[in-house]
Amino acid sequence: MKQIELNGQTFELLFSSQQIDEINARLASNINADYKGKDPIIISVLDGSFMFCADLLRKLDFPHLFKFVKISSYSGMESTGEINIETTLDVDLEGQEVLIIEDIVDTGRTMTSFIEHLKNKGAGNIKICTLLFKPDAILTKLKLDYVGVEIKNEFVLGYGLDWDYRGRHYPEIYQMKKSVE
Ligand code: IMP
Repeated sequence: MKQIELNGQTFELLFSSQQIDEINARLASNINADYKGKDPIIISVLDGSFMFCADLLRKLDFPHLFKFVKISSYSGMESTGEINIETTLDVDLEGQEVLIIEDIVDTGRTMTSFIEHLKNKGAGNIKICTLLFKPDAILTKLKLDYVGVEIKNEFVLGYGLDWDYRGRHYPEIYQMKKSVE
């Protein structure tokens, strides 16, 4: 089992680059089918989604307007519950179809708040695409339209996801190894 060490903590390989690519291809195929003939606004949530988004976008085949938005909600390994939308969305969302690209949905607080924010700005049909989803961690009522893969409620990093800003560069996804008591 491939492992990495970060700040004295061991992480085990969860998904290889090839597995991630297969997940992305399946997501893109479903999204392409649903948005055929449409021209939505795609919003990707920084920081964690930058790698996923870069790979997914290259597989999409319909016209769209693309924006990044920076939302912070996490400190270390704990979800703080406080959402801060740091980017001004300078596009007219009135009645527009919006597809959100997110790296991971954990408690769901970030996406739930962001959807509220988009609705307040008049967005029409809003859909969420997330690469990873932790069903055991969700605390809000959230409809996820495209889920790459469900994972256990364990901390993961790599492929854009960080642990205190480290580990984003790995092309694979790693899961924190539990210490044996
Ligand atoms: P939520 O609001 O609790 O759903 O958290 C969403 C955000 O928390 C994600 O966009 C990530 O930035 C971060 N996050 C949640 N779980 C993890 C994880 O296991 N590793 C790294 N970041 C995570």
